[in-house]
Amino acid sequence: MESVVSLTAVSRRYPRGVLALRDVSLDVPAGQFVAVMGATGSGKSTLLHCAAGLDRPTSGRVRLAGRDVTRLREAALTRLRRDRVGFVFQSYNLLSELTVRQNVALPARLGGPRARPVDEVLESVGLGGLGRRPVGELSGGQRQRVAVARALVTGPAVIFADEPTGALDPTTGAQILGLLRTAADLDRVSVLMVTHDPVAAAWSDRLVLLRDGAVVADGPTPQAEAIAERLRGVSRVPA
Ligand SMILES: Nc1ncnc2c1ncn2[C@@H]1O[C@H](COP(=O)(O)OP(=O)(O)OP(=O)(O)O)[C@@H](O)[C@H]1O
Ligand SMILES: [Mg+2]
Repeated sequence: MESVVSLTAVSRRYPRGVLALRDVSLDVPAGQFVAVMGATGSGKSTLLHCAAGLDRPTSGRVRLAGRDVTRLREAALTRLRRDRVGFVFQSYNLLSELTVRQNVALPARLGGPRARPVDEVLESVGLGGLGRRPVGELSGGQRQRVAVARALVTGPAVIFADEPTGALDPTTGAQILGLLRTAADLDRVSVLMVTHDPVAAAWSDRLVLLRDGAVVADGPTPQAEAIAERLRGVSRVPA
């Protein structure tokens, strides 16, 4: 079966010559939870953005949910993201004046598929009673649950998460990671998550380490302590 996300020899050079990704190849099958780690500036967000069709690589090929995103026009790419992809960011990216329900219903209101009933999804992320509350009144952990619910409601093939627990305390963060883990295990959603936190990465199946835009390690995720050690190994020690 074809991978849900497939990068082949992807490079991304920013203006002024920064080579943020160097020849990155990565295949993520359905239901796999991948953590991407590396020092600041190593290219993690750039990798996520290229994989999600939010940014175009300078060279190489990106396939997403069976489509070659490097060949899609902007409108088709927008539809592909809306219909097949969920996003969860550190900063939630919700509309705080709208209610929980309205935020989660937004992808469908914008024309996306409503694969699952909003109330069922809210229940599944532990927000059953909060549908009518404005998002602006919620705690950080509750907001991130709304973001996960919004990501899940379209029945995506893949969720891209950039530091989803970066603004949360460890307990609340673990609850969010549990939701992503469940989406991978029960719904076969692929998850590509960027994190700086070895404890968060330990929830994944597979760990990809970046250094200066290149993949320097890619394999089964070890325990958090071993992750921290590997991370020290790829992070440059200041001179
Ligand atoms: N829009 C941009 N224009 C020019 N250079 C950029 C741009 N975005 C990122 N870069 C550069 O590309 C490199 C990789 O950046 P990226 O944001 O992918 O790193 P990161 O691993 O996500 O870092 P962090 O952990 O700090 O979020 C860095 O050198 C960064 O300065
Ligand atoms: Mg980043």
